[in-house]
Amino acid sequence: MTIDLGDKKVAAIGLGTWHMGEKIAKRQQEIAALQAGIDAGAQVIDTAEMYGEGRSEQLVGEAIAPYDRSKLYLISKFYPWHADKENLQRSLAQSLARLQTDYLDLYLLHWPGSIPLEETIAELERMKKAGLIRQWGVSNFDTNEMQHLFSVPEGKNCITNQVLYNLASRGIEYELLPWMREEKLPLIAYSPIAQGDTLGGKLLDNPLLKEIAATHQATIFQILLAWVIRDGKTIAIPQSGNAQHVLDNLQAWEIQLTPSEYEQLNQVFPEPTSKQPLDIL
Ligand SMILES: NC(=O)c1ccc[n+]([C@@H]2O[C@H](COP(=O)([O-])OP(=O)(O)OC[C@H]3O[C@@H](n4cnc5c(N)ncnc54)[C@H](OP(=O)(O)O)[C@@H]3O)[C@@H](O)[C@H]2O)c1
Repeated sequence: MTIDLGDKKVAAIGLGTWHMGEKIAKRQQEIAALQAGIDAGAQVIDTAEMYGEGRSEQLVGEAIAPYDRSKLYLISKFYPWHADKENLQRSLAQSLARLQTDYLDLYLLHWPGSIPLEETIAELERMKKAGLIRQWGVSNFDTNEMQHLFSVPEGKNCITNQVLYNLASRGIEYELLPWMREEKLPLIAYSPIAQGDTLGGKLLDNPLLKEIAATHQATIFQILLAWVIRDGKTIAIPQSGNAQHVLDNLQAWEIQLTPSEYEQLNQVFPEPTSKQPLDIL
């Protein structure tokens, strides 16, 4: 399944990289996992200057070096305290060097900060014109923050908001997601499998998920990913340093849940009925 991300069409499941590149002993296995994902058709690779203070970007740079850059969709993120003109220029230059590339497909403000958005957006727009980034967006913005962003000059050039979203964390469905749909902004869902079910969702023990997984001859993680990308406007970016897990995760783009399965999942994991605080990691 592909979805529109800004002006590109990309596969609806990409590759997260948080915590990757931090342990030397795991480096080759992690590079192999990313490469297995690219070979299987993943395009989006999500990283950040924060991840291992640049070591994740370095790992990604090494993993993608043998590939045709134009077939990949690279996302990185900058710290909110680097969102002023000077620091942003330095952050981007360092990210590009670590990734061994001369442009990012998407550059995200990692979470809201105190530097005026006007200054950040003006610099992001300049970077776009200079060909250093193709597009920009934000992460961990709630509805009121998105509305403020859209009120700032050129704020509407933001193409996405990356937030936590999985079957056990549906709070954004009440307000933020409908707002993004109205504005035609695709969602990038992080922690789509609840960090391997360590976020307290107890998803792996759930009898209904076990039953649905058995029906589709799939794993519960694959069902969780198929559920996240169900609307054709959401990209999931599961992270794995294990090539077999990566391949299993990407296979989820083939799974079509039935209306009855969605309904049963709604009974067990209800949609929000009121505004919830944004879940943030
Ligand atoms: N914007 C933000 O603020 C923000 C915050 C958090 C995350 N993110 C991004 O979103 C990505 C994904 O989120 P996440 O890393 O928090 O959590 P996640 O993708 O929900 O879960 C990752 C965990 O699940 C395990 N896993 C993955 N596939 C598996 C499979 N098929 N079978 C068994 N275990 C599996 C991984 O271990 P193995 O390596 O053993 O497979 C890893 O421990 C991050 O890597 C990052 O790129 C962004």
